[in-house]
Amino acid sequence: MARTLLTVGITSLLGLAVLNTSSVAMDDAEARKLMNSQGCKACHSLEGDGGKSAPSFEEVRAKRSRTEVRWQLVNQEHRHGNGKIPDFSHLSDEEIDALVNFIQPEPE
Ligand code: HEC
Repeated sequence: MARTLLTVGITSLLGLAVLNTSSVAMDDAEARKLMNSQGCKACHSLEGDGGKSAPSFEEVRAKRSRTEVRWQLVNQEHRHGNGKIPDFSHLSDEEIDALVNFIQPEPE
């Protein structure tokens, strides 16, 4: 009995680990796609590729929390509202999540 429970436990843990890794990989691909389709790289750069009128995504990752990144995309007036970055409230929650997970993967 104990052994069965242990096996079930380990199997579900492994399953979760696999699920988790693949959703990170999906977010990564989705975020890169959005950065092109939404024109983020006209202003921001990623890995040296893109515009210079806004901080690079590497700089953003170094100084902003996940909450700040999210606010910037869906609730800009809460951050500073200077209107230099377009509004992205038309994106779905999943798309915003993918961008936030990609730009700032570190927990708060
Ligand atoms: C037209 C230019 C432009 C585009 C397009 C743009 N941004 Fe921005 N973004 C800016 C500017 C400029 C800032 C600096 C803050 C400000 O002035 O609003 C900024 C700030 C940010 C910040 C916060 C940076 C900080 O240090 O607080 C994030 C996160 C961000 N942008 C993500 C994105 C994402 C993701 C996209 C595409 C979905 C995008 N931006 C598209 C111009 C742009």
